[in-house]
Formats: sequence, C-alpha cells, structure tokens
Amino acid sequence: MSYNWIKPEEFSFNSFLLMDRWIIKMMCNHHLGNNEYDKNLGIALEYNPAVKWYLFHKCPECKPILEKLTEGVPKNLSSDEVRKAEIDAIREMETSIVLVHPEIMEKNCDYIYDWDKKFLLELADFTDKLVLDIGSGTGRLAFAAAQKAKRVYASEPTDALREYLLDKIKHENIDNVTVLDGTVEQIPYEDNTFDIVMSGHVVGDDYEREIAELTRVVKNGGYIIDCIGEDNRKRKPNEELLKRGFEAFYHVSKTGGDIYRYRKQVVK
Ligand SMILES: C[S@@+](CC[C@H](N)C(=O)[O-])C[C@H]1O[C@@H](n2cnc3c(N)ncnc32)[C@H](O)[C@@H]1O
Repeated sequence: MSYNWIKPEEFSFNSFLLMDRWIIKMMCNHHLGNNEYDKNLGIALEYNPAVKWYLFHKCPECKPILEKLTEGVPKNLSSDEVRKAEIDAIREMETSIVLVHPEIMEKNCDYIYDWDKKFLLELADFTDKLVLDIGSGTGRLAFAAAQKAKRVYASEPTDALREYLLDKIKHENIDNVTVLDGTVEQIPYEDNTFDIVMSGHVVGDDYEREIAELTRVVKNGGYIIDCIGEDNRKRKPNEELLKRGFEAFYHVSKTGGDIYRYRKQVVK
C-alpha cells in the first residue's frame, strides 16, 4: 500500500545509509518475499556497493537474506535500468524512508499535518503529569502533551528522529521533554513510573506483549492512550484493543477517514 508521502524519483538510494538496524530488520521481515521488490532491491544493492556493505554490517543477521537477493544480478544493466530498480525499492520502503528524513514527515504525512492537539488533550488531564510517548516520531503527541505535563519522555528508536526531536527542543527552548532510545517491546523504565503512557501508529505487531509492557510502566490509576493522527482511511474499531479493556473514541476526519482513539485506565 502506497501513501504517496514521497516522490521516490527525488530520492537517492543513499537514503538506505541512514537506516537503523531495526529498520533494516523490518525491511527484511515485512517487505521481502515479493518477487518484484526482491528483484529491484537486489539490483539496487548490487549497483550501490557502499549501501550493500553498510546494510550487511549494520544488520549482520540480515546479511544472508540480502546476499541472496544480489546473487545472479546481471552485470550489464544500463544506468536507466538501475535507477528504475532504485526508485521502485524506494517507493516500497516509503514508510521507512520518511523516518530517516524527518523534515518530510511534518510536511507530507497527513496524519501529522492534519492533526489537532485537542484530539489528544481531551483524552486525559495532562496537567503536571509524568508522561511517556512511545515511538514519538516527530513528537506530534509529545509536544502537545508537554504544553500541560510536568515532563514528557519521548522514546524513539530511529536515530534521525531523535536528532530531529532534540533540535526542535533546542530551537523552541522546550524544557520539559526528554528524548531517549527505546522500543515498545522493552521500555527502559522501572515499573509504575508514569501517569500516562501514550503512542500513535506504534502498537499492533504483538498486542499481548506490547500492552503488557505499557501496563508495567504505568502507575495504578494511570492511563494508556493510543492516539493515531488524521487520514482518509476507512477503518473499523480495533477489536484487539477493545477486548483488552480500551474505550474507543470515534470521529470522522476532515478528509472522511474513520479515526478511532483509545484509552484505558490501568487498575493494578
Ligand atoms: C508512523 S510513526 C508515528 C510517530 C508518532 N507516534 C506519531 O503518531 O506522530 C511510527 C514511529 O514508531 C517508531 N517505531 C517503530 N517501531 C517501534 C517499536 N517497536 N517501538 C517503538 N517505536 C517504534 C518509528 O521509528 C516511528 O517514529
């Protein structure tokens, strides 16, 4: 599925040099196995030896998979044929390419630019609270919460996004947002630390494990919030969250999308 967030022709294949290990792993787990994409990525890697070297060394566990893609790539392809393969590989990885070019996200991703902070702030009282934002991205949720909270911890596994968050904090003199590395599977905090733990577009690969981890770091009586941004997608309520005790809040976005936000009060 393409979101058309980027024009792939405008990107260098060198964008892959900005990828963190977890992104390379995700590419191998979620995107490979489609013959056409495998072929295009194989060509692009074989004709960009520095990128191939980087991916092999940055994510050694993916080396055998990526190596296989480059086996048998013809040696005599024209530069146009190689560029076409690069563009198709970039298009397929659009959702990860934007993560390593954060400035594009706020401009081109509808879930961010069409969003209003009221959609978060009406879900809980953030005043003077200790808040954790998991997979913070460009800080859509973190900076909204920080206007009321005592402190917001913005946890983000993508290096380029952590830098982006730190630059924004510096330029806007924000003194109550702390940026850190970390994933939803393993949150680097003690049990019962936060009043509110929130995320958007992050939870969903393994509900059982992820919600157990979110619950672990929330104080008794605190909240877990899942607050996606605005888009035009038609969707149904998320049964996985409802059956785990989340309440759903529904609205239609201005582009006609079905937006569900979720909240659960944790009782320990
Ligand atoms: C689609 S973006 C959403 C960013 C932000 N939460 C928002 O809604 O504006 C998904 C974010 O989750 C991060 N991410 C991906 N896998 C993650 C994981 N396992 N744990 C925590 N964050 C993750 C990505 O780096 C990216 O910043």
